[in-house]
Amino acid sequence: MSNLVSLEQRGALAILRIDNPPVNALSPAVVQGIKAAVDRFEANPSMRALVVCAAGRTFVAGGDISEFSKPDFTTEPFNTTLNRIENLGRPVVAVLHGTVLGGGLELAMACHYRIAAPSTRLGLPEVLLGILPGSHGTQRLPRLVGVKQALNMMLSGRPIGADRALQAGLVDALAEGDPDAAAVQFMEGLVAAGKGPRRTGERTVSMEDVEPDFFETMLDEVKTKKGAYPAPQRIVHCVEAAATLPLLQGQGVEARLFEECRVSPQSEAMRKLFFAEREATRIPGVAENVAPRPIRKVGVIGAGTMGGGIAMNFANADIPVVIIETSQEALDRGLGIVRKNYENTAAKGKLAPGEPARRMGLLTGSLDFQDLADCDLVIEAVFENLDIKKQVSQRLGAVCKPGAIIASNTSTLDVDVLATASGRAADFLGMHFFSPANVMRLLEIVRGAQTAPDVLATIVRLAKTIGKVPVVSGVCYGFIGNRMLESYLRESEFLMMEGASPAQIDRAIQSLGLPMGPCRMLDLAGLDVAAKVVIERGKAGALPADPSYRAVVQKMMELGRFGQKTGFGYYRYDGRTPVPDPEVETICIALAEKYGIARRTGITDQEIIERCLYPLVNEGARILEEGIAYRPGDIDLVWVNGYGFPDYRGGPMHLADTIGIAKIAGRLDHYAQLRGDQHGYWSISLLLAFMAERGLHFRDWPIKPEN
Ligand code: COA
Repeated sequence: MSNLVSLEQRGALAILRIDNPPVNALSPAVVQGIKAAVDRFEANPSMRALVVCAAGRTFVAGGDISEFSKPDFTTEPFNTTLNRIENLGRPVVAVLHGTVLGGGLELAMACHYRIAAPSTRLGLPEVLLGILPGSHGTQRLPRLVGVKQALNMMLSGRPIGADRALQAGLVDALAEGDPDAAAVQFMEGLVAAGKGPRRTGERTVSMEDVEPDFFETMLDEVKTKKGAYPAPQRIVHCVEAAATLPLLQGQGVEARLFEECRVSPQSEAMRKLFFAEREATRIPGVAENVAPRPIRKVGVIGAGTMGGGIAMNFANADIPVVIIETSQEALDRGLGIVRKNYENTAAKGKLAPGEPARRMGLLTGSLDFQDLADCDLVIEAVFENLDIKKQVSQRLGAVCKPGAIIASNTSTLDVDVLATASGRAADFLGMHFFSPANVMRLLEIVRGAQTAPDVLATIVRLAKTIGKVPVVSGVCYGFIGNRMLESYLRESEFLMMEGASPAQIDRAIQSLGLPMGPCRMLDLAGLDVAAKVVIERGKAGALPADPSYRAVVQKMMELGRFGQKTGFGYYRYDGRTPVPDPEVETICIALAEKYGIARRTGITDQEIIERCLYPLVNEGARILEEGIAYRPGDIDLVWVNGYGFPDYRGGPMHLADTIGIAKIAGRLDHYAQLRGDQHGYWSISLLLAFMAERGLHFRDWPIKPEN
């Protein structure tokens, strides 16, 4: 037998064990090993029953995702083996633990019985990778748990716990302790009860609670909500096939639709993000085995929107937090908002009734910095002002215990300056949360010049604990995301002055799948806030010598048009609904005249997309050139998890690869001609030019001079 799959006889039982660390993914060699084990079991009648289990931290967690992009990939060998397992004439039980996902659950469902450790999680998360459960998951799950529950699991990709799986009929029993012993006991029980094989495929799908037009309604719903994704509609078709066709025919439908998903560009993008997310946790210069510091208690300075949201992340992960404010009133207000937030979630049924109080119990308010003395990590989230943040950093350096990590939630300021102010630069780094901090998945971790490797390792691990996607950035203005945003906002404003309306700009950008275009985004964030950043940067001499640079947002602030909160911004607001406002055009015409910008008619959506997106990609290339980001995939993660870039497009750098680097470079040149380039807005980064010349892509990263 291969060392990945073993078959061992114990009395009348045969134990098939899969051992492919870390997560027992179904590589071709594992599939081959399972097939060989089934051959041996079939050939040996002294083996009265088969137990299928896996070694290590989990049962099989799915097909090997790294295989899916290979041109000759096929599910056929695995799927054939699954049908053979189901058709065995002697009983087969799967013993489950850990995360039984995708191909793992599909293997378990082809077995006749399933027992699970109480902590097991079971799910079909393929939809999150742009594919459908292609090893008969769409056919066997509805047969076991019914149409609605099966669709719920497959369309959300969310796993369920063993308890719910037991209730739903997905597992037959929960087993504490030694799984082998549990399997033996279970099998003995079966034999005593005179029970043999029980084949999922021979069941029919219950249609008891399924309304006659259910599939049609479901299809309409997923088309509306998830129309851009390849898998959801096809999953509904597959489940309908399960309900109406015999197993083999249903499997045929599934195989065809699976393949359509697998080769789709959307799935390729989503699979790439899966690996990018894991790759991002590997940080150059930080050894994989560096021991992280324990984080048992966290301090947060500032109970404003940001501070409160940050604190919630830790309370949600059962880590106690001390929140420091300057006045009791601010503290009460901040904690009150957090409480309301939890209560609203509980009212929607998304949090158990006792949870708001329990989580609030983990948050302590204080007016005294001394209360931070026993914290392992302190994050300051005070007003974005260098002097204030320097003072706070200095106080934290004095009050925090030795070995505590000190972090700033700055979104723009120089982390090295703050690190120096703390007097403990090795313990210092940036933790840039995105608003709302308890919701947005991105955490930009800003690595200072002197940040210690174990500090970085600790925060990367902590990010995973609190459910964030960590991406490490070097120190520069705006780090990865906000720095790239600058050129995007710059062009959207120039387009307005040249003749495009905010509504047209937003519509064009939203056609890419972003939930909001730049104008709606800034209206929501506050045009006053955005304008102040521009003004500050101007004062610091950090802006191009171009009086028309971000002139629109500054004018908006001057006019008191702060966005949604004042009812007027790039749009006029009817409640929360943006309505085009002719006044904005008047403002833009006046600005264009003032700065000598030619007005044009006929600006196309394509021009808007190119002018907003291509400079952003160009800036991404500069960020790579400078070593601010370590990989193109890190940049994509920032945009997908922090700025709403659609995952099915893989992020801006992945999208650039699909458009073509040479084409992007060519269009940057084109706009340099159209608009003139005295301020260097269109100058092509060295990296992009190098790649364009040689026909390279970001996916070829790392790009070396010999390329
Ligand atoms: N195929 C290939 N590799 C996989 C994999 C899969 N299905 N699932 C996990 N891995 C790899 C990861 O890439 C990672 O590799 P690395 O250490 O080289 O970066 C390693 O296994 C550990 O995974 P990680 O996600 O870091 O561990 P975790 O304990 O946080 O989570 C899982 C474990 C199984 C919950 C998570 O990896 C997961 O959700 N995997 C995908 C499951 C899935 O979608 N299955 C259906 C596929 S069709």
